[in-house]
Amino acid sequence: MLPVDTAWFDTDPQKYLNRPEFIRFQEVAGVDFMDIKSSDTQTLRRAQERFSSQSIIFNEVRKEHAGYGMPFLAYTHDLGFGDNCSNHRQDLDKLFMVGDMFDSLRRRHIALSYAILPRQIYELVEEFSTPLKIANLGSGVGLDLLNVLQNANGHAVQVDNYDVNPAALELGRQLADHLFEKGALRPNSVHYHEKSLTKFSGPVQLAVMVGVICGVDDRLAGVLLKKAFSQLESDGRLLVTSSNKHMQNSSPLTAFLAQHVGTPKDPLLSWGLNFRSRETFEKLLLAAGFKDIKIYDDWNYPGIEELDDEILNSVDTLPSRILGQPHTGFPLALPPEEIRNLRQGYNWIAIARKP
Ligand SMILES: C[S@@+](CC[C@H](N)C(=O)[O-])C[C@H]1O[C@@H](n2cnc3c(N)ncnc32)[C@H](O)[C@@H]1O
Repeated sequence: MLPVDTAWFDTDPQKYLNRPEFIRFQEVAGVDFMDIKSSDTQTLRRAQERFSSQSIIFNEVRKEHAGYGMPFLAYTHDLGFGDNCSNHRQDLDKLFMVGDMFDSLRRRHIALSYAILPRQIYELVEEFSTPLKIANLGSGVGLDLLNVLQNANGHAVQVDNYDVNPAALELGRQLADHLFEKGALRPNSVHYHEKSLTKFSGPVQLAVMVGVICGVDDRLAGVLLKKAFSQLESDGRLLVTSSNKHMQNSSPLTAFLAQHVGTPKDPLLSWGLNFRSRETFEKLLLAAGFKDIKIYDDWNYPGIEELDDEILNSVDTLPSRILGQPHTGFPLALPPEEIRNLRQGYNWIAIARKP
């Protein structure tokens, strides 16, 4: 279990509690953040229940730390994909959404769907004979690759998604089936497997691991990277993401909330995120055997200059359209413009080659 790192808050709580977004969040939720810091299990559980009965996003994280649901809500801004909350208040969820750390998940999805994955795939199609084989490890719904495959210009690409969460796989299958029926995907190009990523076998030319090593320590991350390495063909590539140092410092409310969500069973079991530096991330990849390592982030990557503001500020409406759920087509809430203009990336996105 990754230890929770809240020293940044605990050494000077008042510095944060006086910030307007901390004050506002407590007012809207009717919860005192000191109850969220309580070591009394009853008080803590009551406070966490109060949050999760009002916020679909908080409830999702409480249900499953590092699950597929919270990032999926960030990609789609369709709260209909979360469980119903008894006292749902959309304004509370919007206060999550204006957090730049939460928004970085949406930006990462845009980066992967419209720039990074398409470029990797086209380069690999040039290098290898097709069909190009991709393993999406800890895929969740696998929405980014569904987006890319619809625009794969007829290239033969096969994606195998591996996850241990049946609900994520079921939703992914539903979306893929619809796209197959419409002829938007090549037959048999996408598969979903209820299987641990530690059990998959290659060889594949591209392994994708998005949002998987953020919640684990460096030792386990090393094991997972070596596993991906072992199943790649020579000259194959790994695309892997990790939460970074900025997350911890620059988006304090979201970092505070993320690190104080227990589980319904154990309110003290908070969600630890590994806030890696670029150097640590690179070292992990080198130790696993990778070469030609390039590390980008959700605001800095090749191809972003070709994406206009409409795309950069968009949410993914494909799942809502396919499932017939109402969607305005616009984000429910984004971070304020002055924060977005800082273009601070909160997720590393690395590409590395197996020599
Ligand atoms: C934070 S989510 C990321 C999902 C997806 N890659 C994305 O980008 O949205 C992490 C995913 O890893 C999955 N997972 C956790 N342990 C796993 C394992 N041993 N094997 C495969 N998937 C796993 C979870 O079910 C979850 O869907």
